[in-house]
Amino acid sequence: MKYLIETWGCQMNSHDSEKLEGLLLKEGHEAATGVEEADLVLLNTCSIREKAVQKVLSELGYLAEEKKRRPLLVGVAGCLAQQDQAELFRRAPQIDFVLGTMAIQQLPALVSIIEGCNHACTYCVVPTTRGPERHRPHQDVVDEVRGLVAAGYREVELLGQNVNSFQGGCSFAELLDRVAEVDGLEWIRFTTSHPMNFTPQLARTLSGNPKVAPFLHLPVQSGSDAVLRRMRREYTVAQYLERLGYLGERSADLCLSTDFIVGFPGETDADFQATLDLLEQVKFDLSFSFIYSPRPGTPALRLKDDLPHRVKLERLTRLQARQTELTLASNRRMVGRTVLARIETEAPLDGGHWLARTANWKNIHLLADGRPMPFRELVEVRITDAGPHFLRAELAAR
Ligand code: 5AD
Ligand code: SF4
Repeated sequence: MKYLIETWGCQMNSHDSEKLEGLLLKEGHEAATGVEEADLVLLNTCSIREKAVQKVLSELGYLAEEKKRRPLLVGVAGCLAQQDQAELFRRAPQIDFVLGTMAIQQLPALVSIIEGCNHACTYCVVPTTRGPERHRPHQDVVDEVRGLVAAGYREVELLGQNVNSFQGGCSFAELLDRVAEVDGLEWIRFTTSHPMNFTPQLARTLSGNPKVAPFLHLPVQSGSDAVLRRMRREYTVAQYLERLGYLGERSADLCLSTDFIVGFPGETDADFQATLDLLEQVKFDLSFSFIYSPRPGTPALRLKDDLPHRVKLERLTRLQARQTELTLASNRRMVGRTVLARIETEAPLDGGHWLARTANWKNIHLLADGRPMPFRELVEVRITDAGPHFLRAELAAR
């Protein structure tokens, strides 16, 4: 792959760009001479001044045009990316991935398997900006993963706006099984799934194939049928719950994650309460929530959007506060357990701990008694404590 890194801002950012470049070279990628030649453009950003933010956004606008013409991976790293990933994705949906400043060493193996989307959610720019679904042939995906594993990756994440509608010669569940057969690959993740394309077969693969990491991101967006209808999500709350039911009894390992949009045009107090009720009923382990933002060219622009911003913000804050409690409870359930975690830093951080991550996507701060840890390898750790954003762990006794 040919990459281009563009750097904005301070010395710190330039330094990080060099590190990123080092990682990419180590993985066998080559520097591109310009955007036209690049398969990956990585914007290493600075958020100190609104002007820098504006420049990044305008560059992203240009890259969006480029993406319409050919396959191009766009990533954003640095302070701007660290600060407000949700906002960034909302303002620039052409971004394929975001790396916070903390995450710089974990450039993951991301495998795009499907481009575009055949759904037509009324708030979403993807159908217009990315067009209808294009599926990669399954053998192509498997070959790419084989190459990534040969280059040293042990973990891949299959990406698409709607991965589970995959039809590149087999079903998405079958694709997962085929990718899992690649020798040396340890974990596979995938995002994002649409509830209406979530099948019992996929649920079985998720719980039955040990290489498929127990992590499911299944965006629900709202707990109100009226709002879901106006969003044109193609399901009712009952149908969403029925899909979750395919999972059977939820395994303690599974991290179930979702997205919510609050303040969608016409959302009443009762609609919002229904969203809180759904959160309470399902007890998602993780969720990402956003205030509705009107996007150019989307059908939802025609809906009357007269809810004061203050009310939307209040709803968002309430939802997120409750989610933080639920995430903390979910993390606490792991305390005392011994699990595998992948070491994601080459050296311990200032606090003396290493960053690692479990199969179900939880961040670990690992204390290793001064012992060196193998970068990117799995180690057995015992969870000793939990906060809402990370778990503390020590090396499991052997
Ligand atoms: N306004 C707010 N949130 C949005 N999302 C997508 N489009 C919008 C929008 N116009 C959110 C959805 C989606 C996630 C990736 O971003 O929750 O699942
Ligand atoms: Fe497609 Fe997801 Fe956008 Fe809906 S929200 S149109 S499923 S990309």
